[in-house]
Amino acid sequence: MTPAAQDEHAIRRRVADAGQDHVFRFWNELPEDSRRQFLEQLAEVDFEELGELIAEHVTNRRPIALPPDLEPAPYIALPVTEDDQRRRERARQIGEEILASNKVAAFTVAGGQGTRLGYDGPKGAFTVGPVSGRPLFQIFAESLGAARRAYGVSIPWYIMTSRANDRETRDFFDAHNCFNLARTEIKFFTQGMMPAVDKQGKLILARKDSLAWSPDGHGGSIRALARSGMLADMAARGIEYISYFQVDNPLVPPVDPVFIGFHAEARSDMSSKMARKRDPKEKIGAFCLSHGRLHVIEYSDLPDTLAMARNPDGGLKFPAGSIAIHILSRSFVERLGSGKRFALPFHRAEKKIAYVDEKGNPQTPSQPNGIKFETFVFDALPMAERPVVLEIERQHEFSPVKNATGEDSPDMARRDMIRMAAEWFEQAGVPVPRDAGGEPKFKIEISPLAARNAEELKALIARQGIRGIGGDLYIGPEDV
Ligand code: UD1
Repeated sequence: MTPAAQDEHAIRRRVADAGQDHVFRFWNELPEDSRRQFLEQLAEVDFEELGELIAEHVTNRRPIALPPDLEPAPYIALPVTEDDQRRRERARQIGEEILASNKVAAFTVAGGQGTRLGYDGPKGAFTVGPVSGRPLFQIFAESLGAARRAYGVSIPWYIMTSRANDRETRDFFDAHNCFNLARTEIKFFTQGMMPAVDKQGKLILARKDSLAWSPDGHGGSIRALARSGMLADMAARGIEYISYFQVDNPLVPPVDPVFIGFHAEARSDMSSKMARKRDPKEKIGAFCLSHGRLHVIEYSDLPDTLAMARNPDGGLKFPAGSIAIHILSRSFVERLGSGKRFALPFHRAEKKIAYVDEKGNPQTPSQPNGIKFETFVFDALPMAERPVVLEIERQHEFSPVKNATGEDSPDMARRDMIRMAAEWFEQAGVPVPRDAGGEPKFKIEISPLAARNAEELKALIARQGIRGIGGDLYIGPEDV
């Protein structure tokens, strides 16, 4: 047998042993090229892992077992007393020293498919700036540019894409000259993919010569960081702390000295920011404790009895919502990625998955017909030692773009960006005209390259002699 024939033989055997040889249904019709590509795809499948997942999540599926005895997780609350203030100040100093010594990298997970938003393209390219029309990636890039300038360092930025949006994401950065960040400081890498199966646990064919693949969830970042060589790249640069955030939140501070300081002071493996839930059923994960270990329980898994539970004072028993901002110590990610088996558990998600039917005709189902497997980065928390949960003011740090309309939509994110800019103007002593409902009358937006907070804005306003706001206003880098 030729080497190619041997490969084919070995792959066919693995596929058959896994009970999946229906995938060769159209083999005889396939041209040579397609056959080769299809075999390459099948060679990528870890049939051992897949078999276990199918048994656990499809054929012998049991109801989801929540971690037992869930209690509310402790967190560092927003400062009330002077002591609290001093603690935050100390954390800030520690964090600033760490930033100034080149030990922090920013990390964005941007491999998702953004289906709910209905935006056709990498979500980071979505234009959200209320006046400037800046896309999400530009907003993060400018924050990082401003932090680099403030601490006099380079802050490498790692961006995880998926096969579906990697090329487009890189092209987008190239077309915008990397938003004036050094090209060498931005590192793209792709996450892993998992094949989808039908409700009987059979691999779905998306085409006659292709499985139906989907990204393996943001938890896939843990193994993708190792597999892509990015962890080694971080080690070579002396990076110790990874500042993790999602691509959907224009208010996120990509690196926050206070958060880094609390994380380092506690010698935490993985820390998280939290906001109080807007309402008991808000679609965000909840921080809980089970047997002394920290967990995020996804909103869809948290039973109503717990989501709605109240304390005697009327406050929510589980108020702490996950806003998906973490600091991960590099050593922790190395530990998680080093085992033979992937450390994070897979979850099942029932989805509509386009497929070819028995006759080879493409079909687009109107109801979920298959199961995708994905991992969540917050499932690393129970394995983390000394995890810190830090409360933040949601109106300053969290307004994600998830849905086309309503809550967590672009309109809401723009409103929140304007509100924050208005607050800074007022703190800096410039009155902001407001409508009857109290909202700023004009759209206002501030680039972090112009001012990162109210004090910096105050200095800029003094230099520029701005005394009032008479129309839509964007304070950008050229205004400095
Ligand atoms: C997520 C969290 C939720 C949290 C909320 C805060 C999950 C399951 N839930 O919800 O606990 O309270 O954010 O906003 O994550 N991504 C990848 N690769 C993937 C899948 C996703 O990189 O394979 C990225 C996306 O690009 C995005 C982020 O992960 O940046 C969030 O993904 P998404 O699936 O939209 O999570 P949410 O349901 O919004």
